[in-house]
Amino acid sequence: MVQPDATGRRVVLGVAGGIAAYKACEVVRRLRDAGCDVTVVPTANALKFVGETTWAALSGKKINTDVWSDVTEVPHVRLGQTADLVMVVPATADLLSRAATGRADDLLTNVLLTAHCPVVMFPAMHTEMWQHAATVENVATLRRRGVVVKDPASGRLTGADSGPGRLPEPDEITEIALRIMAGGAEASAAAAGQDLAGRHVVVSAGGTHEALDPVRYLGNSSSGLMGVAIAREAALRGARVTLVAANMQATPPSGVEVRPVVSTADLARVMGELAPAADAIVMAAAPADFTPEQQADSKIKKDGHGGLTLHLVQTTDVLKSLTAARAQDGERTGQVIVGFAAETAPDHDELLRIGAAKLARKGCDLLVLNDVSGGKVFGHSTTQITVISPDGPVAEVAGTKSEAAVAIVDALSGRLSQGV
Ligand code: CTP
Repeated sequence: MVQPDATGRRVVLGVAGGIAAYKACEVVRRLRDAGCDVTVVPTANALKFVGETTWAALSGKKINTDVWSDVTEVPHVRLGQTADLVMVVPATADLLSRAATGRADDLLTNVLLTAHCPVVMFPAMHTEMWQHAATVENVATLRRRGVVVKDPASGRLTGADSGPGRLPEPDEITEIALRIMAGGAEASAAAAGQDLAGRHVVVSAGGTHEALDPVRYLGNSSSGLMGVAIAREAALRGARVTLVAANMQATPPSGVEVRPVVSTADLARVMGELAPAADAIVMAAAPADFTPEQQADSKIKKDGHGGLTLHLVQTTDVLKSLTAARAQDGERTGQVIVGFAAETAPDHDELLRIGAAKLARKGCDLLVLNDVSGGKVFGHSTTQITVISPDGPVAEVAGTKSEAAVAIVDALSGRLSQGV
């Protein structure tokens, strides 16, 4: 988790009229905890969800929604011009439309027109509204102008329905805001730490289970922590992320779509389905290399068995099948595929040699070599990695999995931008 010093940074937090406005209360609190000076600018409709008193108490400032109050201070110009960051949490379909067409019919839209700083919007609405052609075009217009528009998370919406349209959780929104401010004053997406905006990244994580019978399986103890850290980092940097989760213990980050899988065959199927439209694929999962040739339909009983002999057959090498499919697909040049390898080696040079051979064998663009010589395998929050490309080592990290994820996503982003 990046915690840049945000003391004294001026944030204008616009709130549009959607039920998710309640989550913005927590964002105000967290930004103030980080030292920010926060001015909340709700729309008139936002006040139907969360009242003026709440915003004033949380921000410590008087609340205006229109341009007719405190006119001597010209807040509609001053607020935008002096802010370090303007954010809209949540941005409704109506707000996106007004911002895209340059309307100036309330204080928030005036602020958006006078902002010199990065602007980030967090849309939240029903799936139909988010996917409507009008909203899609408005979002594209805003992004073209340098506004960072985060894709909403998928999950439960108001009422019984679920799908894309959900506001990310306050901690994620706050972290994105702090990162953007740390990234500098330019409003471009890349400068605002959003180098993966518009990219689709598919990350596999966890360990697969191969069923022996209805109650038993062969598996491994991969926690999924590394894959989750990578998914989180990519999402924070603007990517749409799909996490293909094999029996993970780690909690998935809130802003990503999760596709649960159980066995290596499931993993191969789902990755094969997602791969053609992915800009980058990270195979952080630990798939079982072998599966029982036959799965018993009923529980295997111990009576009558002196022991049990299993016959195992090899599973699909998912990574290899993804790089092979890419090689066949003329449309997929530029896709970046990242593999992992946990290896033991007597020294670093030997580790690099083993890694280079595996990278070539698997046909991937980057390989994250995990030195497990000291017995550190799964479930630890720290790790030691070397990222290699066909040209040699790209990065080395001995630290937390979050720090490793930053280095891995840096390398991935670098290759994506080179178009190789
Ligand atoms: N992998 C995969 N499908 C498998 C096994 C592994 O896609 N059935 C992927 C892993 O997700 C990882 C990479 O391949 O990204 C390397 O895994 P590893 O187990 O080191 O590869 P192997 O080819 O099994 O190498 P070894 O023979 O050294 O075990």
